[in-house]
Amino acid sequence: MAQSFDVLIRGATVVDGTGAPRFAGDVAIQGDRIARVGSLDGARAKHEYDARGLVLAPGFIDAHTHDDSVMLPGGDVTPKVSQGVTTVIGGNCGCSIAPMPRAIPNPVPPPLDLIAARGGWIYRRFSDYVRVLEATPPAINCAMLVGHNTLRVAVMAKLQRPASEKEVRLMRDLADQSLEAGAIGVSTGLAYAPGRCAPIEEVIEVCEPLRDHHGLYCTHMRNEGDDIVDSLEETFRVGASLGIPVNISHHKLIGVHNHGRSKETLGLIADRMTSQAVYLDCYPYTASSTVLLPERVETASRTLITWSKGAPRYAGWDLADIVADMGVTRDGAIARLQPAGAVYHNMSDEDVERILAFDATMVGSDGLPNDERPHPRLWGTFARVLGHYSRDLGLFPLEKAIHKMTGLTAGNFGLIDRGVIREDAFADLTLFDAGGVAETATYTNPSQRAAGVCKVWVNGDLVWDGDRLSGAHPGRFLTH
Ligand code: ZN
Ligand code: CU
Repeated sequence: MAQSFDVLIRGATVVDGTGAPRFAGDVAIQGDRIARVGSLDGARAKHEYDARGLVLAPGFIDAHTHDDSVMLPGGDVTPKVSQGVTTVIGGNCGCSIAPMPRAIPNPVPPPLDLIAARGGWIYRRFSDYVRVLEATPPAINCAMLVGHNTLRVAVMAKLQRPASEKEVRLMRDLADQSLEAGAIGVSTGLAYAPGRCAPIEEVIEVCEPLRDHHGLYCTHMRNEGDDIVDSLEETFRVGASLGIPVNISHHKLIGVHNHGRSKETLGLIADRMTSQAVYLDCYPYTASSTVLLPERVETASRTLITWSKGAPRYAGWDLADIVADMGVTRDGAIARLQPAGAVYHNMSDEDVERILAFDATMVGSDGLPNDERPHPRLWGTFARVLGHYSRDLGLFPLEKAIHKMTGLTAGNFGLIDRGVIREDAFADLTLFDAGGVAETATYTNPSQRAAGVCKVWVNGDLVWDGDRLSGAHPGRFLTH
């Protein structure tokens, strides 16, 4: 009798996520797992797909996101799923939506305003947030970090100073409870106002529970320009003092006179990787994006406004045009726009390519889903790595591109049985056209779905059929 499965994908070019060479094969799904990989000629399934001419890869894992509120009921995962992403790591840059044991100040202190408006800060404990994700699952999987900026806002009335001994203890306890509830690590955003005044000793103490919970430390470093080497050393110190892995978030070099220095930083990272666990991620663009900061404007050749509470009509405008339109100085315009978000053109192609091609670098979008005119990385990151960087520029083979967004990432974040196509792994899968995959999102028209992604499955369920979400919500809150 013919073997029968739930889903059978026939004749695909399988790229399994480990970095191994592609092979032709059939993949069968039973329940939420991959049941068989190989030649399944005689087999049958409830749903069969002809995948000849297409690549089947593990579902992509977005190593760096701000999707904390997108995972909640009503959140739109189209920017992710349309690129083939099946799992996101949230809570980055020191900003997690939980825990917030007190009423959040009004206005919400930047950069926490990037991930949720005031009404969204309702999860007193991290476990309250997890309970909602489990009761009303999203369409895709997520794993979450607990943010040090969030913890500071949660326990400190005044942020422009180091935390007191008592405040450090409170933050450490909140971090411990969050890890107990399933957070996979702690993140910092030491370049931002809430985290900036924290000495590294404070960070190490708050991160102490990571040791027992086998968690990792992810950091948007204090400096990504002139003082980047000091910041890297500070990051390594956190990992070495606690014996935990560290992840350098969105590694980049900002400011014209720092362009080219990725040679130096990657050399230092490679050297340190021989004695401690160091990971890094990067997004495939030469412009960054965050809240509107005068010091960031200084480092950019061009600044675009992504949203503004002070003067909403300027969303999507070039700051130089706003200055002319308002008839004020640049500082005057920045002040009137606040609070606001921006895209900063401040990196070199050479650095982005070198960092992206570095063997240990994972792909993470750093997409900002709540921005009115978001940086195109939200909708385009994975398609751009596969299309522009791997296929068109030939920066690395497809197998390596996919490994950077699947197997490498699952291994670093401890996501068991994910990021790989093999029997018994979870059936998170992306079927795409390697010749046609491309980002269509641009700086001027950023909310555009990628081309070339045909089908996406999460835990065995189809969530994307080529041009729309299926409506299924098979996503899980992942912990390790
Ligand atoms: Zn960041
Ligand atoms: Cu970020």
